[in-house]
Amino acid sequence: MEFSEVVRRRRMIRHYTDEPLDPEVVERVLANALRAPSAGFSQGWAFLVLTDPVDRARFWPFVPTRVEQTPTMQDAPLVVVPLANRSAYLERYAEPDKGWEDRAEARWPAPYWFIDTGMASLLMLLTAVDEGLGACFFGIMPEHLPLFRSEFGIPDEYAPIGAITVGHRAPDAPPQSAAVDARRRAADDVIHRGHWGSGR
Ligand SMILES: Cc1cc2nc3c(=O)[nH]c(=O)nc-3n(C[C@H](O)[C@H](O)[C@H](O)COP(=O)(O)O)c2cc1C
Repeated sequence: MEFSEVVRRRRMIRHYTDEPLDPEVVERVLANALRAPSAGFSQGWAFLVLTDPVDRARFWPFVPTRVEQTPTMQDAPLVVVPLANRSAYLERYAEPDKGWEDRAEARWPAPYWFIDTGMASLLMLLTAVDEGLGACFFGIMPEHLPLFRSEFGIPDEYAPIGAITVGHRAPDAPPQSAAVDARRRAADDVIHRGHWGSGR
């Protein structure tokens, strides 16, 4: 598929069939995540990958809103929880070529550990589209994180940034909500060429 077509077709899919994924497709989704850029090539990310139905069933109680609102999300044969590791960045930037030996978090007005893990997440979403599949990124609410962490043995230094489902779109999945198109911000509202507010 043309890259611009992949970008244009990408939308969050919240309804899946239970048709399994080719294991090679799963590997391509994951391999592409690892091609994401990262600050200082820190690669301070990790990915909890759930494909076994028993493991997937252990995940869904931590996102009750999704289960309630879009129960067929639970049919998705792949769930990935991208995790961001702040300390990997503080340590990487304390190395001699960066020199931030104080490891001060104030040096990071935009925490790159979240940005980079988000970039890896977008690559997984786009890979799913390229494979003719659907995918959705969604949040895990803070009140569920402690038990989620202990259920899956997530180390303290890794922060889940959300979760991603990948699977075959349900044939009766509703079309993109008209509200999304209606609310998509116009280029002139958000692109500032040469000076803020200058318009075109
Ligand atoms: C960081 C992030 C968090 C999101 N969290 C949720 C979520 O918790 N539940 C959900 O259904 N969708 C979630 N979404 C999907 C957005 O609602 C969706 O991207 C937006 O409405 C635009 O629609 P589209 O991606 O289908 O074009 C999230 C997206 C991002 C990027």
